[in-house]
Amino acid sequence: MEGKKILITGGTGQVARPVAEALAVRNEVWCLGRFGTPGSERALAERGITTRYWDLSDGSPTALADVPRDFTHVLHAAVRRGEDGDFDAAVEANAVATGALMHHCRTADAFLYVSTGAVYARQTLDHPYREGDPLDGVADWLPPYPVAKIAAEGAARAFARVLGLPTTVARLNIAYGPGGYGGVPMLYFRRMLAGEPIPVPASGQNWCSPLHTDDLVRQVPLLWEVAAVRATVVNWGGDEAVGITDCVRELERLTGVAPRLVPSEVTRETYAFDATLRRELIGDCTVDWRDGLRRTLAAHHPDRLLPAPGA
Ligand SMILES: NC(=O)c1ccc[n+]([C@@H]2O[C@H](COP(=O)([O-])OP(=O)(O)OC[C@H]3O[C@@H](n4cnc5c(N)ncnc54)[C@H](OP(=O)(O)O)[C@@H]3O)[C@@H](O)[C@H]2O)c1
Repeated sequence: MEGKKILITGGTGQVARPVAEALAVRNEVWCLGRFGTPGSERALAERGITTRYWDLSDGSPTALADVPRDFTHVLHAAVRRGEDGDFDAAVEANAVATGALMHHCRTADAFLYVSTGAVYARQTLDHPYREGDPLDGVADWLPPYPVAKIAAEGAARAFARVLGLPTTVARLNIAYGPGGYGGVPMLYFRRMLAGEPIPVPASGQNWCSPLHTDDLVRQVPLLWEVAAVRATVVNWGGDEAVGITDCVRELERLTGVAPRLVPSEVTRETYAFDATLRRELIGDCTVDWRDGLRRTLAAHHPDRLLPAPGA
C-alpha cells in the first residue's frame, strides 16, 4: 500500500503502533490520541507520523476540529476499556467516538474498526467461535469491556450503512509480538518471573488464536480491501488455536521459568476462533505460534531465552 492518507487511533498501543510505523514508510499517516506516555508522541513523529491530540471520551462537536477530513483509510483501534467499572461511560465514549470518526472521515475508501472476540457468549472452553455465534458481552475479568465493544460495533455498522462508508469490523484475538508490551503472552511471562499466580480454569484450559504482529500488520490493508457498506464482520486471529496453559508451558520450556498455575473461578477468558471466513477473505497467516512466541521472548527478555537444543 502506498501513497494513501491514513488516519489511525490507538497508534501508541500494542495493536496499532506497528501498523502505523509500517504504513508510514510509503503513506501519509496521522495518529490521534492523548500521548500520555512520555516520549510516545515523539517516537511516532520520528517515523514521519503526524500527531493530533484527541480524547476518545470527548464527544463534543469540536473534538476533531484540528483533524483533516480527506483520509483515504481509517484504522480505529483506540479503546476505553472500562477499568473504572463505569459501563455507561465506556459505552458512550466508544460508541460516540466511532460514529464521530466515521462521520468526520465519511469520504474515505475504507474504515476498519478493531473489535474483540470477548463479545462472544462463552461456550465450551475450546469452542471455535464463528462470526454468527451468540454474543452476550459478559467478561468477569473486565465487565464493561465487551459491552462497550458491542455498542461500538453497532455504531460502526450503522454509520457504514447511513454514510455509505465501506467498513470492516474485525474481532481481534490475542495480538502479540516484539512491539509494545509484547501482548498477553508477555503479561503471563512477567507474572512467571515475579512468581505471581496465573489463574487457570479448574479443568481444561482457556484457548485462543494468537495473531503475530507480522501477520497483523500485513493484514490491515487486506481488511480495508474487503470493507463493505453492509459492514464486513470477521474474526481476526491466527490460523492455529492454542491453549493458554500450553502457551505458558511453552514459555517455561523456552526459558526454564516455572509458572504458578492456580485453578480459579475467574480467569482471563480467551477465545479460539473459527478462521474460515477470515481465510476466505484475506488468506492465511504466516507465523507459527511457537516461532512467534520465541521471537517475542527474544525481543523482550533476551537474557531469559535458553539456547535452542543443539545450538
Ligand atoms: N491487544 C490485544 O490482544 C487485543 C485483543 C482484542 C482486541 N483488541 C482491541 O484492539 C484495540 C487496540 O488495543 P491495544 O491492545 O493496542 O490497546 P493498548 O495497547 O492498551 O492501547 C490503547 C490505545 O488506546 C488509546 N486510548 C485509550 N484511551 C484513549 C482516549 N481516551 N482517547 C484517545 N485514545 C485513547 C491509547 O492512546 P493514548 O493513551 O495515547 O491516548 C492507546 O493507543 C482495542 O480496540 C482493543 O479493544 C486488542
